[in-house]
Amino acid sequence: MYKIAVLPGDGIGVEIVPEAIKTLEAIGKKYGHSFDFQDALIGGAAIDAVGVPLPDETLSLCLESQAVLLGAIGGPKWENIAVELRPEVGALLPLRKKLGLYGNLRPAFLFPDLIDASSLKKEIIEGVDILVVRELTGGLYFGEKKRFVNEQGEVASDLCEYSTVEIERICRLAFERARKRRKHLTSVDKANVLETSRLWRDVVSRLGKEYPDVELEHMYVDNCAMQLVRNPRQFDVIVTENLFGDILTDEASMLTGSIGMLPSASIGGTVGMYEPSHGSAPDIAGQKKANPLATILSAAMMMDYSFDLDQEARDVEQAVRQVLAEGYRTPDLYKQGDKLVNTEEMGDLVARKIGEGK
Ligand code: NAD
Ligand code: IPM
Ligand code: MN
Repeated sequence: MYKIAVLPGDGIGVEIVPEAIKTLEAIGKKYGHSFDFQDALIGGAAIDAVGVPLPDETLSLCLESQAVLLGAIGGPKWENIAVELRPEVGALLPLRKKLGLYGNLRPAFLFPDLIDASSLKKEIIEGVDILVVRELTGGLYFGEKKRFVNEQGEVASDLCEYSTVEIERICRLAFERARKRRKHLTSVDKANVLETSRLWRDVVSRLGKEYPDVELEHMYVDNCAMQLVRNPRQFDVIVTENLFGDILTDEASMLTGSIGMLPSASIGGTVGMYEPSHGSAPDIAGQKKANPLATILSAAMMMDYSFDLDQEARDVEQAVRQVLAEGYRTPDLYKQGDKLVNTEEMGDLVARKIGEGK
């Protein structure tokens, strides 16, 4: 019995999460696991229902579960309310912090059948398989924020702070992942300008001596943004701070065909949280157009990282691979000649594929 807190959230969150649950149920049926899903409110949905974006019951449910499955939060409806109430600042960031989720793993893997779905050339993206390890509970996101008025008028500031301990634990996690992969780690920073980046570089270099089998490279973030689209195959594991990781992973998602393909696992505490890397996509919400695969693949990461169910995780990935090989595509991946399906149909196809492999 695995207890999972389910937080659908806002926008397409409520459309994609049920598809990941279908996937987990198919896995449960096939392998004899039972998943106990408990729903809770978060984000705009929680504001509308109870007036706060992260109700206490939601936090306690997460803390007493073995894993959290999150859809997405936020949207135009809640953009102009008091900042501490907004879904992003009032719910997602404190939830990550309170669960101790300092490590966000975002794999940008190109399923071979999606080679034509990307906006980038085939020969550039063929074979792309990158793991971005993003620091998730530090940096600019969590530093002191200020607004004040001086003689020049209104001024705002966000403090960027990183401690050695924070840098060490995320880089250690990245070295460990690199060890299990192609043993190449790119640490991305802006050490030519930022003091936090200079500390980052010192710490990761020192740590590198403990991992002589992993080749460590340093790269400035601006160069990295360019290299990701110039020659993405040069990357195996990338480790970087919170904001750089946020931006680089949205960019990296296009190497896989769509942001709807980029899953994520947030780990480091006792309870892991699994969520697609994209947001609530207000422009397509409620239209059954959302690609549920990033969420389904996040559920596969839950199998791996929270439950140690390796075979089950590979099974989900294999089902996704087969459904794509058969030509089924949600609108974000669709081109002429493909079989166009909606969110629900895509989820059904993956669940059925898992069942067939019985
Ligand atoms: P977004 O990721 O929601 O959408 C960007 C674009 O990608 C849109 O055109 C959208 O339609 C498309 N897209 C995203 N996911 C898709 C999917 N699964 N299938 C098909 N197309 C998809 O980013 P945004 O528009 O900048 O942000 C919208 C809201 O989401 C904001 O409130 C933002 O703060 C929030 N957000 C939340 C999370 C999260 O909950 N983890 C992550 C990012 C953004
Ligand atoms: C993400 C999102 C969040 C982030 C926002 C919604 C706070 O963009 O998970 O990538 O910046 O971490
Ligand atoms: Mn983001």
